[in-house]
Amino acid sequence: MVSKSDPIIIVGGGAFGLSTALHLAQKGYTNVSVYDKDDHIPPAAISAWKTPLFAPYFHQTGFLHCVSGEAPEKAVGTLNRFRASAERNSQIKPHVVPIQHSEDARQACWQLDGPMAGWHGYLNRFDGYAHSGAALAGVYRAAQAAGVRFFLGERNGAVEEIVYVSKLEGKKAAGIRTKNGRFHPSSLVIVAAGAGVGRLVPQLGQTVVAKSWSVAHVHLSDEETSALRGIPVTYARDLGFFFEPDPKTNLLKMCPMGGGYINTDPKTGVSHAPESLKESAFLPQEDETQLRKLLAQTLPSLADRPFVQKSLCWFADTSDSDFIIDYIPGMSDSIIVMSGDSGHGFKMFPIVGSWVTDMLEAPGAQQPVARWRWKQPPSQGKKGDWGGDVSWRVGETKELAAILPPKASKL
Ligand SMILES: Cc1cc2nc3c(=O)[nH]c(=O)nc-3n(C[C@H](O)[C@H](O)[C@H](O)COP(=O)(O)OP(=O)(O)OC[C@H]3O[C@@H](n4cnc5c(N)ncnc54)[C@H](O)[C@@H]3O)c2cc1C
Ligand SMILES: *[C@@H]1O[C@H](CO)[C@@H](O)[C@H](O)[C@H]1NC(C)=O
Repeated sequence: MVSKSDPIIIVGGGAFGLSTALHLAQKGYTNVSVYDKDDHIPPAAISAWKTPLFAPYFHQTGFLHCVSGEAPEKAVGTLNRFRASAERNSQIKPHVVPIQHSEDARQACWQLDGPMAGWHGYLNRFDGYAHSGAALAGVYRAAQAAGVRFFLGERNGAVEEIVYVSKLEGKKAAGIRTKNGRFHPSSLVIVAAGAGVGRLVPQLGQTVVAKSWSVAHVHLSDEETSALRGIPVTYARDLGFFFEPDPKTNLLKMCPMGGGYINTDPKTGVSHAPESLKESAFLPQEDETQLRKLLAQTLPSLADRPFVQKSLCWFADTSDSDFIIDYIPGMSDSIIVMSGDSGHGFKMFPIVGSWVTDMLEAPGAQQPVARWRWKQPPSQGKKGDWGGDVSWRVGETKELAAILPPKASKL
């Protein structure tokens, strides 16, 4: 068992890693270090992420949750399940109002002046969104103030590998090696590397799939930003969503919804996030079409505007959409993996780290919640499960190689 003064290394300063750093420091662990290959927190890519339910970065603007008139049955089913779940909660139920047609949607939000043909669903005034970039930056400052040390950037923060030693009782993690070649010892390594987990923990095999969805922005004028102040998170399950533009940048952030993109290594069958962010800096054509449809239905004056700050955002997906937060078996409790955020991990930012401190203090080193336990990877050679059956996803998962934009011709 780790003691409060033992060195603990966290690989990754994203939502899972930062939350854990803060909870460890608050519980009195005094030698906690976070390593991240990015040179600032939040990393550039993360600031593009939209997140719900988290104060003080939370904005309770409401959640207009619908399907368009052309939505497939699966999307309607998901919508109804979300709605039933909101209505089961006695605190939330009074805030839920039905949206039966586009006129109701316009009543709920006068700024939406598009046709919203066939839209129906509900408005939940209890919901809203959290500003993920600001929240990460705030918790980064709080963790630093609580004594957590940070090693950032490609030279000092990028972790090349976990270093193991062989003991009588089996293999054990002894620490990490950073890209600059230095070894850093620790009693416990916590891997919270997001979509980068597969390179550090190959034992996961195909249980975790690096997958991406796109994000794009429309740059608004001061007046347009001001006019959209306070709009609810507007979500058509079959198209995508947007929310209040950021008054600091005048950017309206949008995410199309679909099956996502993977990047499978043909040799191993495992999908990894591309090494460089540059390869993800585009918006696939089909997603652009979908976002323009969403704008034409809701905010038609913006439907033909150029999209800026386009990128694919990578996350760690599992076939059942459940997290994996557990010790790696056979390593004498020396390494914990926090993975499988499955594209819905940020909402847990305030508490996900406490699941790790609870695990460290519980007798018998095992994740108490069965669905978050380590899962044995499927046998090699079998086709991976890309989560296509996950109930809340609409659309097919595609290979990144198949949708890359054509390279600019030199001629
Ligand atoms: C388009 C999109 C929309 C989303 N919407 C929502 C939503 O509405 N609600 C919600 O709850 N969630 C949402 N998510 C998911 C949410 O963003 C993730 O669940 C969350 O960010 C996962 O946190 P993490 O710490 O596991 O990974 P990350 O936040 O990705 O952090 C991993 C960190 O590890 C670092 N790293 C990786 N490899 C190494 C290495 N070898 N050495 C050093 N550092 C390394 C990376 O630089 C990164 O900082 C969305 C995701 C996307 C892509
Ligand atoms: C933390 O642990 C490292 C590695 O064992 C050690 O070198 C360092 O002195 C420790 N720092 C503190 C503040 O205890």
